[in-house]
Amino acid sequence: MLVLGIETTCDETAAAVIERGTDGAGHFQARILSNIVHSQTEAHAPYGGVVPEIAARAHVDLLDGIVARAMREANVEFRQLSGVAAAAGPGLIGGVIVGLTTAKAIALVHDTPLIAVNHLEAHALTPRLTNGIAFPYCLFLASGGHTQIVAVRGVGEYVRLGTTVDDAMGEAFDKIAKMLGLPYPGGPQVERAAAAGNATRFAFPRPMLGRPDANFSLSGLKTAVRNEASRLTPLREQDITDLCASFQAAVLDSIADRLGVGLKIFQERFGMPTALVAAGGVASNQAIRRALQDVAGKARIELIVPPPALCTDNGAMIAWAGAERLALGLLDDMDAAPRARWSLDADAIAPAGFAKTRAAY
Ligand code: KG4
Ligand code: ZN
Repeated sequence: MLVLGIETTCDETAAAVIERGTDGAGHFQARILSNIVHSQTEAHAPYGGVVPEIAARAHVDLLDGIVARAMREANVEFRQLSGVAAAAGPGLIGGVIVGLTTAKAIALVHDTPLIAVNHLEAHALTPRLTNGIAFPYCLFLASGGHTQIVAVRGVGEYVRLGTTVDDAMGEAFDKIAKMLGLPYPGGPQVERAAAAGNATRFAFPRPMLGRPDANFSLSGLKTAVRNEASRLTPLREQDITDLCASFQAAVLDSIADRLGVGLKIFQERFGMPTALVAAGGVASNQAIRRALQDVAGKARIELIVPPPALCTDNGAMIAWAGAERLALGLLDDMDAAPRARWSLDADAIAPAGFAKTRAAY
């Protein structure tokens, strides 16, 4: 099975071709034949965040060339494809329309099945592409747009165990960076500054600690950092590193506590997970990885973190999710709609204090 995947939901324009096969015993095998990612970070950096209109226009300009390159590097012709998959949401609607329409055009012209993939589902299924793991497993997804704990029980079977009630975790890192004058994207900058700072200088709040649900909240913590920063202004170098270190320490405590609860709920409802899987840009933070390792160790399960290039947004994960759906005959037609919001778990109940942000979906 050869599948082309297209990703345009945020500020990465990406396309990839993957191959999915089965061995004699019926186990699947996966191979990435190409994986081209163009990050638009530079175009958005002057604005300190992703500008939807700039992103959509850049996707229009870039996508044809990126798809052509992905096909060329994979050495695959359009007529050989078993399917073409695009992320149909959730995300910035202008970009989603560009990717999905391109996939529909390819599907129509080459008479190939179309798969409209949920971007979150693609993150959720990535560890099967990279590590071939079996269901059910527990996913911790933390990016600029999402912060969720999800029980992945099968293709199309996702139960959201926890979500943020306000900001996404990556978004919080980005906002802290911005208020401290560090460049965009802020996550890696805050991590670097934190490594040089004193994590105990400021006692920031640990939101939601000890609560019986597995939800996150980050805006109170962000406000506490902002208040401390304005009290200290003008900020010295040491203030910045200490603020970052104390902020990150609060995030680590929150992750340990919330995921601990999430894994407990998982085991009560679905039995032992095969692994704890981390995905999304935030999972590339080394301190956060160590915290995740601790949580997994305590629960006596394996921690799987796909390589950074497959943790952050990419086309291979979309192609893979497309292949998983295709293998089950789950196809879409030309009416498939682009969706700004698209919960992975249709039955998920909105958490108390739920703000209708992209992060909470
Ligand atoms: O998954 P991703 O590349 O894109 C989406 O948001 O979908 O995640 C990007 C987010 C940004 O908010 C970025 O600041 C954050 O992940 N991030 C980090 C680190 N590297 C990236 N956050 C904390 N520490 C990092 N090292
Ligand atoms: Zn993503």
